[in-house]
Amino acid sequence: MKIDILLGLQWGDEGKGKIVDALSPDYDVVARFQGGPNAGHTIEFNNMKYVLHLIPSGIFHEGKTNVIGNGVVLDPVVFKKEVESLNLGLDKIRERLRISYKTHLILPTHRILDAAHESSLGASKIGSTLRGIGPAYTDKTSRNGMRVGDILKENFREIYDTHVREHLRMLKSYDFAFNLSDYEAEWFDGIEYLKQFTIINSEYLIDSSLREGKHILAEGAQGTMLDIDFGTYPFVTSSNTVAAGACTGLGIAPSRTGEVFGIFKAYCTRVGSGPFPTELNDDNGQLMRDRGNEYGSTTGRPRRCGWLDLPALKYAIMINGVTRLFMMKADVLSGFREIKVCTSYSANGREITEIPYHLDEIEKVNYKTLPGWNCEISECKKFGELPPELESYISFIENETGVPVTIVSVGPDRSATIYR
Ligand code: GDP
Ligand code: IMO
Ligand code: MG
Repeated sequence: MKIDILLGLQWGDEGKGKIVDALSPDYDVVARFQGGPNAGHTIEFNNMKYVLHLIPSGIFHEGKTNVIGNGVVLDPVVFKKEVESLNLGLDKIRERLRISYKTHLILPTHRILDAAHESSLGASKIGSTLRGIGPAYTDKTSRNGMRVGDILKENFREIYDTHVREHLRMLKSYDFAFNLSDYEAEWFDGIEYLKQFTIINSEYLIDSSLREGKHILAEGAQGTMLDIDFGTYPFVTSSNTVAAGACTGLGIAPSRTGEVFGIFKAYCTRVGSGPFPTELNDDNGQLMRDRGNEYGSTTGRPRRCGWLDLPALKYAIMINGVTRLFMMKADVLSGFREIKVCTSYSANGREITEIPYHLDEIEKVNYKTLPGWNCEISECKKFGELPPELESYISFIENETGVPVTIVSVGPDRSATIYR
């Protein structure tokens, strides 16, 4: 058996949560491999809507094991609130969830450091979700982090105090007002809560599940263009969101990976700062935002919207070795008279189809225009029921990328999913 990987190909919020939930019946184990509560994965079914930040999106299915992997950074306050918000009951979630000893903890001071750093950047701020992600991963790579396994140590409080002292020393260099005590009290409460869950060396669970012939799905967070190495640096997150991140974030050997499912919206969105070549600051952009309800699942911020960017999509497919494409939110484009797709950029007077190192060199975005469709598609159940214009849009993307589009999503609900 091999592990399939599902990840975002754009700037996040492609609809990963919805699809992981929809595919979960086919898997025994669903495992998050990176990111933390900066993620917001929305799942809708039976007229209910849930937003997951840390818990894998297979949690609503009975008999499935969900794993928070070593590559994730976990905030116990967010974790407790999330468990309590799911209407599943503590016992069911405890039964279905496993957490790696090696998952790093987000400390209250990581959140403060994140906010202090962002505010010091002024106009050049990253647009972080302010969940403490950057500082937590910084401590991980500088070998100063605290991990979930540490909460079971007798001298946990002592280790915590040492870390906080160091963070407070760093905070002195910022002119930033903060209150640590309120969040700290909630945090310790969250740590006690966390102790009720099964904490394991999850790499062994992954290995034994594979040996037993079980199916595993690795769930990514964020998107390829937010990857710490390959995204639009420095306007990125602090982890490897790409397929390789699943190997380090769960302890999977590359030879044991199988399909790579790449999720993309039929257009593009981005929340936070940074380059976005196809961004539309016009009525079309506003229409996408309104129709697609493009407001952040974690922070509520309006998402920037624009046409599909093929050079960026092809880049993401290349880096991840995508084997199947899933097109999301096709319904949002219904009613547009024309659909535009960026096929190349112009930079330094030349037409280019690669993502340049200096994205600010892009002077112009070149589009191909395709006909739109003027009918609602949210009720379509089969590929053949989709309007021919959408079918040609999909064929165009398949021809350009060389990868088949095997799922088309036509609404937020679990059921609004067309399998090909
Ligand atoms: P994720 O972070 O990749 O899991 O995506 P988010 O949940 O942050 O954002 C995707 C948003 O689009 C959520 O509000 C979903 O409910 C919604 N959504 C997902 N798929 C579709 C779709 O096909 N059509 C529409 N209209 N909404 C969708
Ligand atoms: P999901 O998993 C969209 C963005 C932030 C900011 C940058 C850095 O729901 O797709 P961070 O808090 O990580 O330091 O922020 O990354 N960002 C996301 N954008 N979806 C996400 O996750 C994101 N997680 C982080 O807006 O621009
Ligand atoms: Mg999201």
